Amino acid sequence: MTSTDQQPFLSVKDLKVHFSTEDGTVKAVDGLSFDVAKGKTLGIVGESGSGKSVTNLTILGLHDPAHTTIEGEILLDGENLLTSSPRELERLRGNKMSMIFQDALASLSPYHTVGRQIGETYRKHTGASKKESRDRAIEMLRRVGIPQPDMRVDDYPHQFSGGMRQRAMIAMALVCDPELLIADEPTTALDVTVQAQIMDLLKDLQQEFGTAIIFITHDLGVIADIADDVLVMYGGRCVERGTKREVLRSPQHPYTLGLLSSMPSLEGPVDVPLSPIPGSPPSLLNPPSGCRFHPRCAFADKVSGGLCSTAQPALDVVDGRGSACHLTLDQRDEFFADFAVSRHN
Ligand SMILES: Nc1ncnc2c1ncn2[C@@H]1O[C@H](COP(=O)(O)OP(=O)(O)OP(=O)(O)O)[C@@H](O)[C@H]1O
Ligand code: SF4
Ligand SMILES: [Mg+2]
Repeated sequence: MTSTDQQPFLSVKDLKVHFSTEDGTVKAVDGLSFDVAKGKTLGIVGESGSGKSVTNLTILGLHDPAHTTIEGEILLDGENLLTSSPRELERLRGNKMSMIFQDALASLSPYHTVGRQIGETYRKHTGASKKESRDRAIEMLRRVGIPQPDMRVDDYPHQFSGGMRQRAMIAMALVCDPELLIADEPTTALDVTVQAQIMDLLKDLQQEFGTAIIFITHDLGVIADIADDVLVMYGGRCVERGTKREVLRSPQHPYTLGLLSSMPSLEGPVDVPLSPIPGSPPSLLNPPSGCRFHPRCAFADKVSGGLCSTAQPALDVVDGRGSACHLTLDQRDEFFADFAVSRHN
């Protein structure tokens, strides 16, 4: 993407993930493309049900193959994950790529100590001895800021606070120095202070190891803090992408504009009432015709010929910057101007 001059470490091309259900086909991800370079963070933002988690679980190979149809290409360091065997994916998970989930308690086993769980992940991928794995677990706990790690290594997850459990999960995700880390709403359940500490921790680790990070969130404030590039998802598709500055400062898509209008200013208090996007996210079973956002879009009537409800807008991307909307860029400049004035003055 635009902010990188390096080769992408992860490259997702025209990814489609469809689930067969009793009610029909759920097109959870429907033609998604993006890149992430080493040492960079891609923020993926979108409302609930837009396909963020499905995209990332598919990258990791953690989908249920029985009812899932996947098309496209996922290249990790040049290797196509969609044609890799389950065994190969298992090797890559933990070693080359790993994930931090939202709910640490659900992701850590209650029956084993935190240290054992971190150590076993290390042992499995490196063949290290039990002693080496325990030492590594202590080192990782120290690195993620757990006090007295040599004692806490023998605690069970329920003996940790919520913030500590989240740190322990980060330690587990990073124990094999993965080159790609996917963080799916890792801080949503935490209070603001712990949230900030965990974001700082991820940034430090990224600087140290050059990790590529995908950070999924509903929160544009978090994106403003951590991302280099941003991908905005709506109804299983990318509606806008660009650098953080481009997307947050000069949104090109009415949906991104809506997201920004429904959150407090990123630069301190502004006397603008917040206006949440009316309506609800689209069904992925029977998505709206044309532009999937049209039933909720305040600008749909500005496009002539009723195009918004009949023709799907293409995502035009130049140098990593693009959006999928029938409005001309001049129209957007004009219509979005009020927004820009109220937020930046
Ligand atoms: N195994 C499955 N079978 C059928 N539908 C599924 C399956 N997994 C996910 N979906 C559907 O795919 C869509 C995208 O889900 P996904 O979990 O990716 O959303 P999300 O963007 O991560 O939302 P949230 O912000 O709430 O986590 C949803 O409509 C969801 O119901
Ligand atoms: S294509 Fe039409 S409905 Fe979709 S975002 Fe643009 S103006 Fe709105
Ligand atoms: Mg999700």
